[in-house]
Amino acid sequence: MITQEHLAGFLLMHAGFRAEFGRLAEACRAPRDREHEELLEEQLALLLEMLHAHHTHEDTTLWPTLVAHAPEAGDALAELESEHAVLDPLVAVAADRAAPLPERVPALRRLHELVNEHLDHEERTAVPLMLRHLTPDDIEADRRKAMADFGRRVPIVFGWLVSSADPALLTAAFADLPVVARLMFRLFWWPAYQRRFARLYGASISLPAPLES
Ligand SMILES: [Fe+2]
Ligand SMILES: [Fe+2]
Repeated sequence: MITQEHLAGFLLMHAGFRAEFGRLAEACRAPRDREHEELLEEQLALLLEMLHAHHTHEDTTLWPTLVAHAPEAGDALAELESEHAVLDPLVAVAADRAAPLPERVPALRRLHELVNEHLDHEERTAVPLMLRHLTPDDIEADRRKAMADFGRRVPIVFGWLVSSADPALLTAAFADLPVVARLMFRLFWWPAYQRRFARLYGASISLPAPLES
């Protein structure tokens, strides 16, 4: 039996996806210069890669685990999987570097809407099943898988997630982070991400209160 806190990492990824397509859609309308274009391309590629990894993990691991426990939920989970496939053509347009960024803005806007609708649906349908059927071991395996997907980009991914989530979720997600990682985040990763965020979006962002100590 797990609690809502166990799902904080999963929901933190959702918060990141919910925020970033909208930010990118806005910023890609008129990149300042070549350097800004490159940074936007890099951020977009990272976001699409993380979305792909998240969906693949759901389709190949999480949903089959839930269906094994609750066969009656098979149709509802198959529907969530089919929504992943609906997003794919838009992801392909958004990722196509042959088109200039401003031409990809409509695809990014649509992705922003559809990803948010999909996550609403998933949080209504799959999260209650996850709470009922996943074990702490399942959650630990998910955490390891996510860290492997982040790879060397952990500092940027953490910055992106923290820039996207509300304080309650951050408190839960960072609760069992080792002290050293919290310190690294505060001293190095977050200041670097603040600079990245300013270059990407021309706006400043401050450290959320739950992470100040
Ligand atoms: Fe998800
Ligand atoms: Fe999903």
